[in-house]
Amino acid sequence: MRTLWMTVGLTATLAVLWCSGNALSADPKYSIKEVMKLAHTGKPALCAKAVQGKATPEEKKQLLELYEALAANKPPRGDAKDWKERTSALVEAAKALVANDPDAIAKYKKALNCAACHQEHKPN
Ligand code: HEC
Repeated sequence: MRTLWMTVGLTATLAVLWCSGNALSADPKYSIKEVMKLAHTGKPALCAKAVQGKATPEEKKQLLELYEALAANKPPRGDAKDWKERTSALVEAAKALVANDPDAIAKYKKALNCAACHQEHKPN
């Protein structure tokens, strides 16, 4: 009986270690620079199309994917809590865009504050 419990305990411990190790080593799908390039630059930029209500359903889904990756990145500078708030707001806004919520664009415009986020998190 004792060996059984030891085996159970050991298996559980290994599972926890394995899972957390995995989560730590999982790289975000896109780096911050890639997200900036793909979502915020170009003519027209994806973000601008979304703000103008001209993004296709596919493009809205792409924005959501990009912001989810952004949120999974660590900022090169600044407070981690602030980063989480800003990136979660972008993820929430992109979800609203995908769902065609009536207030999605207003939400997105508010979350998409380039200068404020750069001031806090972009290296000089
Ligand atoms: C949630 C925070 C956040 C928001 C919002 C944000 N950025 Fe950024 N951006 C960053 C960070 C952090 C970097 C620096 C990345 C690095 O150096 O690793 C960056 C870098 C950039 C770069 C340089 C990329 C490169 O290859 O060096 C461009 C261009 C850029 N952002 C454009 C924009 C524009 C345009 C907007 C608004 C439409 C915007 N960003 C909104 C966080 C943000």
